Amino acid sequence: MNDHRALRDAFGCFATGVTIITSVDAAGAHVGFTANSFTSVSLDPPLLLVCPGKHASSLPIIRKSGVFGVSVLSDAQRAVAERFAARGVDRFTEGEWVEAESGVLLLEGACANFACSLEQEIEGGDHLVLLGRIQSFRSADTRDPLMYLRGRYA
Ligand SMILES: Cc1cc2nc3c(=O)[nH]c(=O)nc-3n(C[C@H](O)[C@H](O)[C@H](O)COP(=O)(O)O)c2cc1C
Repeated sequence: MNDHRALRDAFGCFATGVTIITSVDAAGAHVGFTANSFTSVSLDPPLLLVCPGKHASSLPIIRKSGVFGVSVLSDAQRAVAERFAARGVDRFTEGEWVEAESGVLLLEGACANFACSLEQEIEGGDHLVLLGRIQSFRSADTRDPLMYLRGRYA
C-alpha cells in the first residue's frame, strides 16, 4: 500500500472547508499556512484539531509558543488560501488581520475564527495531529465558506 497518488485522490473525495493556521514567535514574527485538515472535536472542553505536515515551517513556532489561530475562509478569500500555500511570498500581505489576546493573527471576513492553546500533539505519520483548546472564537453565518474537493477550490 504505497500508492501515494491514488491515496491522495481517495482522500480528496472528502469535501472540506479551507483554513489558515497562524502562530507567532517570541519576537512577534507571524507565520501561517493553508490547511484543510481542520476538524471540530469537542464542545466540553472546547477542542479542535488540525494536522500540519512534519516539515511545515510554522510547526516549530506553534510548538514553542503553544498557541495558534484558525480562520475558516469564506468563498471570497480564495486568494488568501493560495498565498498561504505558496512559497517565497510574504503571506500576510493578502487579507486584513486582527490580533487575538495570545498575539496570533486572525483573518477579518472569515466565516469563523478560533484562538487556541496547544493542548496535545499526537503522532500521525508524516503529519502531526495538533489538538487545540479554544480560548476564544467568533463566527458569521452570513458568509459562504470556501470549499476544497478533489484538489480544487469549489
Ligand atoms: C487547500 C489546501 C489544504 C492544505 N492543507 C494542509 C494541511 O492540512 N496540512 C499541511 O501541513 N499542509 C496543508 N497544505 C499545504 C500547505 O499549505 C503548504 O505546504 C504550505 O506551503 C506549508 O507552509 P510552509 O511552506 O511555510 O511550510 C494545504 C494546501 C492547500 C492548498
